Amino acid sequence: MDLGIKGKKALVMASSKGLGKAVATELSLEGVEVLICSRTESDLKSAQSEISQKTGGTVHYAVGDVTTVEGRDAILRKAKEALGTVDILITNAGGPPAGTFDDHSLDEWESAYKLLLESTVGMIQAVLPGMKEQRWGRIIAISSQAIKQPVNGLILSNSVRASLLGLVKTLSNELGEFNVTVNNVLPGYTRTERLIELLGEDPDWDKITAHIPLGRIAEPEEFAAAVTFLASERAAFITGVSLPVDGGWIKGI
Ligand SMILES: NC(=O)c1ccc[n+]([C@@H]2O[C@H](COP(=O)([O-])OP(=O)(O)OC[C@H]3O[C@@H](n4cnc5c(N)ncnc54)[C@H](OP(=O)(O)O)[C@@H]3O)[C@@H](O)[C@H]2O)c1
Repeated sequence: MDLGIKGKKALVMASSKGLGKAVATELSLEGVEVLICSRTESDLKSAQSEISQKTGGTVHYAVGDVTTVEGRDAILRKAKEALGTVDILITNAGGPPAGTFDDHSLDEWESAYKLLLESTVGMIQAVLPGMKEQRWGRIIAISSQAIKQPVNGLILSNSVRASLLGLVKTLSNELGEFNVTVNNVLPGYTRTERLIELLGEDPDWDKITAHIPLGRIAEPEEFAAAVTFLASERAAFITGVSLPVDGGWIKGI
C-alpha cells in the first residue's frame, strides 16, 4: 500500500529513543522528512545517524525540553527553519513517575500536567495555523493503554493522560472542516528503555504476558506502523479515535 505521504514534513516529540524514535524511523521509511527532539544532544545525534542510515531520508534534530515554553520554542524554531510548515505532528513525552496517591505531592501532579497535557497542547497550538491554512494536517498523540484501563501504581499517568481522550475527540470535531485529523494511539507493553526501567532488572515475563492475549509484548516498530498509517493519506477518513496497540490487553469492548 502506498501511504501517500512522501515529501510531507513531520515533527516527532520526545524521539531520541523508544516509541518516538520508532515512529520517526517509520515515517522516514515512507519518505517523510522528520525532525526529532529530546533533551539530550548526544542521543539525538546517534538517533539522527541511525535513522538516516536505515531509511536514506532527511532527519533533523532539535534539543529542547517539551515541558517548558523555552524548550518548545527552541524545537519550533528549528522546525520552522528546517521543515517550514509541519504537516504531521506526533505528540509524545517521557512518562511521569510511578506511585500511588499518597506518594505524590501537588507539585508532582503539576509536573505530570506539564509533561503530558501542556506539552501536547502547546505544540498543537503552534503548528495548527499552518495546517489550517494548507487544509491538510495530521495530529497524533502518543498516550497509553492506561487511559482505557488504569494500571495500579501509575496514578499520575492514569489520571492526567486520560485528559487526552477528551482533547483528541473534541479537537477532531473542531478541525474536520480544515481537513486536519486528530487521533490518539495507546501503546501497550512495548520493548523500550522506559518499560525496562518500570519493570526492573529481572522482570517476570510470564506474569506480564499472561494478561496479553497475543502472549507477548510489542516491538516499537509495531506501534510505529499504526501511528504511521494514521499519519498517512490512506487514513484520511479516520479522526477522533483512540486506538490501542496493546495485543488485546484492554479488557473492555
Ligand atoms: N514503552 C511502553 O511500554 C509504554 C506503554 C505505555 C505508555 N508509554 C508511554 O509512551 C511514552 C514514550 O515512552 P517510551 O517507552 O518510548 O520511553 P523512552 O524509551 O524512555 O523514551 C523517551 C524519549 O522521550 C524523551 N523525553 C523524555 N522526557 C522529555 C522531555 N521532557 N522533553 C523532551 N524529550 C523528552 C527522551 O529523551 P531525553 O530523556 O533525553 O529527553 C527519549 O527520547 C511515555 O510517555 C511512556 O510513558 C510507554
